Amino acid sequence: MQNPQQRWDTVILGAGAAGLMCAAEAGKRGRSVLLLEHGERAGRKILISGGGRCNFTNLDSKPANFLSENPHFAKSALSRYTPQDFVALVEKHRIPYHHKTLGQLFCDGSAQAIVTMLEAECREARVVVQGRTAVERVSRNADGFAVHTSAGVRLARTVVVATGGLSIPKMGATGIGYDIARAFGLRMVEPRAALVPLTLAGDALEHWAAIAGVSAEVTATVIPATKRRASAPIFREKLLFTHRGLSGPAVLQASSYREPGDSVRLDLAPGQQVFTPLLAPGARRDEASTSALLRAHVSQRLSDRWLRANAPPDWKNRSLEQMEATLHAWTLPIAGDEGFSKAEVTRGGVSTSDLDSTTMQARGVPGLAFIGEVVDVTGHLGGHNFQWAWASAVAAAAAL
Ligand code: FDA
Repeated sequence: MQNPQQRWDTVILGAGAAGLMCAAEAGKRGRSVLLLEHGERAGRKILISGGGRCNFTNLDSKPANFLSENPHFAKSALSRYTPQDFVALVEKHRIPYHHKTLGQLFCDGSAQAIVTMLEAECREARVVVQGRTAVERVSRNADGFAVHTSAGVRLARTVVVATGGLSIPKMGATGIGYDIARAFGLRMVEPRAALVPLTLAGDALEHWAAIAGVSAEVTATVIPATKRRASAPIFREKLLFTHRGLSGPAVLQASSYREPGDSVRLDLAPGQQVFTPLLAPGARRDEASTSALLRAHVSQRLSDRWLRANAPPDWKNRSLEQMEATLHAWTLPIAGDEGFSKAEVTRGGVSTSDLDSTTMQARGVPGLAFIGEVVDVTGHLGGHNFQWAWASAVAAAAAL
């Protein structure tokens, strides 16, 4: 039974990836730690991550894999806790894992192994985990903070907000971290859905939804609606057509850079000259030979649909060259995205301009730290978001 008058060295809000890691690290440093979670169990997003196998880090993780208003902010924490550090923890717990692609490491078995590992680390560090306790607000008192919860008030010398972003509310996401930041006068970068499927509308939706389920290896990027914005990175991964528009890793990656009014640009045959044989003297120039050439790169259903929308007006060289150019810079207007219920992460959040990049504490509120997804640092797909959760947690714990 907890003594409500006990004053904890640190109370951590949210037992997700960042909260569990921070609790274990702070406990190991001899701090008394209370970890509060409103769900029944810890690490629910870890359990559903990576298709149930948790893509727990990325060996190639570097600052360029993160979006933030301040692209330098994450560098300190990321350099002090690297993917190899997390791999060492996974190996210490004898969790079998494998490299899938592009530096991505996954568990061989269930993601449960990662949650079990973090819970074991917390137990060893004598962290007290209290579930079914919703954090309602945080206030300051003479010698620290009071955390107001559905189970009463908890007193703390320091508080770490690790309540995540808004994505997947049915997994426990709430905006409480943002509310706490605002209450302490911290600036916010508007939270938006990221790593999220994009939607099409009108004729484009009607035309492309007909091949929902079809995928292709492409490059994808967003084309800003205004020239004032810098161009977005180009991602080479899979595209998936859906009933509402476009998804697959390439599009999810591009979605993190999207602003209203932007388009998506796809290359359906990166690095290949598909229609060049049609230009040869004496080559057959008709629908059948065009389709045969495209089918060597994409599935028949995509080839048929694409040629219906992009057939050349005639068989002259210029028209064929234009069709080749369109295939490599195929641009579709984006209507919107599928929102927080489908977004893998939230971009934006607590502004890095009000946080210390070494301690993750609010500049004007010593002892109050923000870590993980609640902060305006958003990773690319592929294990980078967990790497940020681990690294920001360890950075905060070192200063508690
Ligand atoms: P996280 O959301 O994990 O934890 C926040 C915790 O706070 C939750 O437990 C929540 O219940 C709790 N909480 C919220 N409000 C509260 C309140 N009022 N009171 C008490 N507790 C409260 N990333 C990656 O690197 N590799 C991957 O494979 C995947 N896969 C993936 C799949 C899917 C479907 C999703 C939705 C997301 C991913 N991600 C991912 C992203 C990754 O899951 C995410 O970036 C981290 O979980 C963020 O960790 P945090 O601890 O910051 O938040």
